[in-house]
Amino acid sequence: MRPYARLGEVPRKRHMRFEREGEVLHEELIGRDGFEGPSSLLYHRHLPETAQDVVEGIEDDIPVESEKVHEHAHLEGFRLQAHGDTITGRQWLLVNDDVRIGLLAPQQQQEVLFVDASADDVLFVHAGSGTLRTQFGRIGFSRHDFLVIPRGTVYRLELDGLDAARLLVMEVTGAIDAPDRYRCRSGQLTEAAPYSERDLRGPEALEGESGPVQVWVKRASRISCYSVDQHPFDVVGWDGSVYPVAFNIHDFEPRAGRFALPLPEHQAFAAANVAIHCLVPRRSGSDAEAAPLPYHHMSLDRDEVRYFVETGQPAPPRVRPGSLTHHVGGLPHGPILGERSATSAEAGDLAIGVETARPLHRTQLARQVIDSDYRFSWRPATTG
Ligand SMILES: [Fe+2]
Repeated sequence: MRPYARLGEVPRKRHMRFEREGEVLHEELIGRDGFEGPSSLLYHRHLPETAQDVVEGIEDDIPVESEKVHEHAHLEGFRLQAHGDTITGRQWLLVNDDVRIGLLAPQQQQEVLFVDASADDVLFVHAGSGTLRTQFGRIGFSRHDFLVIPRGTVYRLELDGLDAARLLVMEVTGAIDAPDRYRCRSGQLTEAAPYSERDLRGPEALEGESGPVQVWVKRASRISCYSVDQHPFDVVGWDGSVYPVAFNIHDFEPRAGRFALPLPEHQAFAAANVAIHCLVPRRSGSDAEAAPLPYHHMSLDRDEVRYFVETGQPAPPRVRPGSLTHHVGGLPHGPILGERSATSAEAGDLAIGVETARPLHRTQLARQVIDSDYRFSWRPATTG
């Protein structure tokens, strides 16, 4: 997904001795798939692993609901209250071994540094702005940006304000990338892709920090608290293709056809068993004989989640910005009639879709914000 990039000073050749102002710099490889995948080389002023202490931290335990009934659901995510910081405040709603989906409405700023050692973090900024600070440098972000943070990135999310900040958060077990079909053989995104490398915003400037700091390392559900002698943001330069990026959803170029198009036409990112879609306002069904609403469908072996960022006009029934719908595999679903029978139905919503190959489980927290009547909302008597 990321093109080769370079920031700051790096030596002429990889793995050669590198000094700056009489100081020997320390090279660190951050690589995927062992030594066979994409990687970046970072040059630190200090040894990157100078821990003086490590203690057990909090457990990100996710109690799931015992699901006795297989049914669609609407989760009223907008009802969740502000809680914790950008790490401790992750309120998980739908989970499986491939992805955790939750919401974040932080009550306080993140104080310690955080690194996810077993998942790529995908944050979508529904409301708020700030700076993502990492060992690769900083990225400014604002409303409707995705932040795609590969595992191994040490980061602190600094928000400009806490009052209205709200984020969708996903921890993805596989590596997040562009779908393979968007790439040519050399790896560049093709003209047919709905976005280009130019739309991905990498780190703008290095941090240049030093001194002791605490780093929380998350592996699966456990956090270990490392006290390190030297700040990991002491990097003087790096190059490679593993680094965090921001991507604004409004830079996704939507596809539209004479008739309704299927979900894969709106895909932005892919990972093992997970697809992430950008459902942005678009003109669809331009043919005079096009059905006014998308067709009902049953994904036999996929669960579909939709997170509503903004609703178009007329607004869809039941959901609001901050809602999540969870349509389970093996049951049909489609547009709800009633208030939304206009020809532009669904075309005006701004939403994020997540499709999973394995069933998602609702957490006990999800049960607290479930709209229990949603499963019956296709009945004509209950709509409108
Ligand atoms: Fe669907």
